[in-house]
Amino acid sequence: MIAVASGKGGVGKTWFSVTLAHAFSGLKQKTLLFDGDLGMANVDIQLGLMVANDLGSVVAGAATLNQVVHYCDKCRFDVIAGHSGSAGLSAVPVGRLQILAEDLSLFADTYDKVVLDMGAGAEKSIRILSGMSGRVIVLCTDEPTALTDAYAFVKLMAMQYPKCRVEIVVNQAETLREGQQTYNILQKACQTFLKITPPLLGIVRRDARVRDAIRNQMPLITRYPTSEAAEDVIEIARKILQDEQNVQS
Ligand SMILES: Nc1ncnc2c1ncn2[C@@H]1O[C@H](COP(=O)(O)OP(=O)(O)OP(=O)(O)O)[C@@H](O)[C@H]1O
Ligand SMILES: [Mg+2]
Repeated sequence: MIAVASGKGGVGKTWFSVTLAHAFSGLKQKTLLFDGDLGMANVDIQLGLMVANDLGSVVAGAATLNQVVHYCDKCRFDVIAGHSGSAGLSAVPVGRLQILAEDLSLFADTYDKVVLDMGAGAEKSIRILSGMSGRVIVLCTDEPTALTDAYAFVKLMAMQYPKCRVEIVVNQAETLREGQQTYNILQKACQTFLKITPPLLGIVRRDARVRDAIRNQMPLITRYPTSEAAEDVIEIARKILQDEQNVQS
């Protein structure tokens, strides 16, 4: 399981999660995309999916996870949509959230990759779902607020889940060089104040075609397969698979 979080809202978590899941499915991985942003669910909207039932029914105890899975034809992966208009994950009692986390963890065993799109912030519910994931990708941009919030998220995860593998992806970088500079700022703060260095997993360039794809509710990899942002995300998916192969061998 791979959780995508950020602290700050609007840095590109949902778009990145959708595109990463799509990249994994293109690399022959059986993939599930889980919308963990209950209350402000966006995954189904970005994909233009019409879903009859979603995570809201699971949280309410009216359905099980396998009853709310939808197959996305466009991307060839499964989706569990969130529920817009309800209270967010923070309103779910911790006991209920733990059960959901355990169910998801069992359900995840039937996939090669499960990508969790988390909501903004660093509240307990987000940390619980992130903490049970094998990897947490913290997305940030070069804006000072995005960097501060990414640092705060890394700090909270390091305190509560010191064994959790937390990595950084710089999104919306003007150039790969500028993305590296953004990472260096975050890395320096983490090293100085937390004595940890979350590695850089990748840099995704700012690309006008991202907005175009979202406006058309089409996955970027389908609409613009050779765009810079698509290439950058596919590269990250390949790197994750390569890391796993290195660990196994
Ligand atoms: N690499 C990129 N290049 C250009 N635009 C981007 C890129 N990544 C994200 N965006 C823009 O950022 C917007 C916000 O993205 P998204 O909804 O995925 O953010 P989010 O972090 O999930 O937000 P929230 O915290 O509200 O859930 C997108 O609609 C898109 O226009
Ligand atoms: Mg989002």
